[in-house]
This record gives sequence, structure tokens and C-alpha cells, in this order.
Amino acid sequence: MSVKIIKVFAISIILYSPFSLSTDRTTLVQQCAVCHGSNGISANSAWPNLAGQNKGYIVTQLKRFKSGARKNALMTPVLNNLTDQDMEFLADYYSSQQVAIPPAKVINQQGRNVSGYCMPCHTAKGYAVNDEWPNISGQHADYLFNQLMSIKNGKRQSMIMNSVISDMTEEQLRSVADYYQQIGN
Ligand code: HEC
Ligand code: HEC
Repeated sequence: MSVKIIKVFAISIILYSPFSLSTDRTTLVQQCAVCHGSNGISANSAWPNLAGQNKGYIVTQLKRFKSGARKNALMTPVLNNLTDQDMEFLADYYSSQQVAIPPAKVINQQGRNVSGYCMPCHTAKGYAVNDEWPNISGQHADYLFNQLMSIKNGKRQSMIMNSVISDMTEEQLRSVADYYQQIGN
């Protein structure tokens, strides 16, 4: 190989190799890890775990936060500088993380009964039937309950979900939120 070709080769590695991007991407992930944990498991029960969440669902939610369709004071500022490519990367990153959350010893029976209404879309094990919808098994119960209340009172817009839970009581929603955390993943 001539010196010239080696130089061109070396420069193209610097410009195009994934390694030259990794500093940016590490910084990107670190921004999220502050709240969602470096393994996609958040330390605060009001903040969602992202490990193993569906890719399509993550991208859609990030775009909704960015456009203001879904509002949250902690999430919105983080998204201002993210490009569509960044969001795709982050969604890939979190959806491919696998963290096993063990089931609890005691399962909320009332929640289990209520979960019959959730199964057509979230299945008995809490894994959504398609990539656009969220997995909810092993998710923090406090987070799940907050989202259910937000959807019920219209603060978070979801016609599909709202029609399922609008007649449910706060007690039913609390119990089903507990149940889905307890079954683990
Ligand atoms: C300061 C804390 C904080 C930071 C930093 C943060 N998030 Fe969040 N994130 C939250 C909170 C709180 C929620 C729940 C919002 C709600 O209640 O609607 C959330 C929700 C989400 C959701 C929706 C999950 C679901 O199940 O619907 C996604 C996806 C998400 N964050 C991804 C990210 C990504 C990617 C980053 C980094 C670019 C990030 N977050 C940075 C706090 C944070
Ligand atoms: C007809 C399908 C359908 C049924 C039935 C259904 N869901 Fe959902 N669920 C969805 C969809 C779609 C979303 C995503 C909403 C959005 O885009 O914001 C969702 C979102 C959620 C979220 C927010 C998750 C997150 O990570 O932020 C929770 C919690 C939830 N569902 C719990 C339940 C529970 C509990 C039941 C049963 C009482 C239920 N769902 C029944 C379709 C359904």
C-alpha cells in the first residue's frame, strides 16, 4: 500500500469510524443516565425504567416531549438539542438493554383481576403486543400509577388508554400499577 493510500485510509477511519462518534454518544447517554440510570433502571420510583422498553414507543414519546404534546418539566429541557438521529440512537440503546427484574413474593390480587382489561394490548406478562406500545412489566408502580392518573384526567393524551380506564377508580388503578411492577420481567 502506498503512503498516500494509507493516509487516506487513516483519515477516513478518523472521520467515519464509530469510535470517533462514541464520545458524543457517551455524553448523550450520560445526560439520560442521571435520571434513568446507566443500565436503564432509574433510582427514583417516579421516573420510568427504560431498559427493554420498545424502540418505536421510545422514539414516539421523545418526539411528543419535544413537540410539547406530552409535558414534563424534567424531560422537556433535555430534548431541546436532540436530533432525530440522536433519538433513534437512544431508543436503540435502551431497547436493547436487558435487565431482569425478579417478581415479588406477594402479588396484588385485585390488581391481577383488573389486569384482565389490559391484556389485549399489554398481555398478561406486561409486554405490549406491538413495538409502538409500552411494556409495563417490572416498571416502577409509582410511575405507572402517575401515568394512569394523568391519562384518566386528560393531562396525558391517549384516546386508546383513556377509553379503557376512564371508569376505573383510583384504587383499581393503584392496584393494577402495583401488580405490573410485582410480576417483574
Ligand atoms: C432530570 C431527569 C431526567 C433526565 C435527565 C431525562 N429524563 Fe427521561 N424522564 C424523566 C421523567 C421524570 C419522566 C416521566 C415523565 C412523566 O411523568 O410523564 C421521563 C420519561 C421519559 C420517557 C418516557 C418513558 C415512558 O415509559 O413513557 C422516555 C422515553 C425518556 N424519559 C427518555 C429519556 C432520554 C432518552 C433522556 C436523555 C436524552 C432522558 N429521558 C433524560 C426524567 C428525566
Ligand atoms: C386497547 C389497547 C390498550 C389497553 C386495553 C390498555 N392499554 Fe395501556 N397503553 C396503550 C397504548 C397505545 C399506550 C401508549 C399511550 C401513548 O401513546 O401515550 C398505553 C400506555 C400505558 C401506560 C403508560 C406507560 C408508560 O410507560 O408511560 C400505562 C401505565 C398503561 N398503558 C397501563 C395500562 C393498564 C394498567 C391497562 C389496563 C387497566 C391498560 N394499559 C390497557 C394501549 C392499551
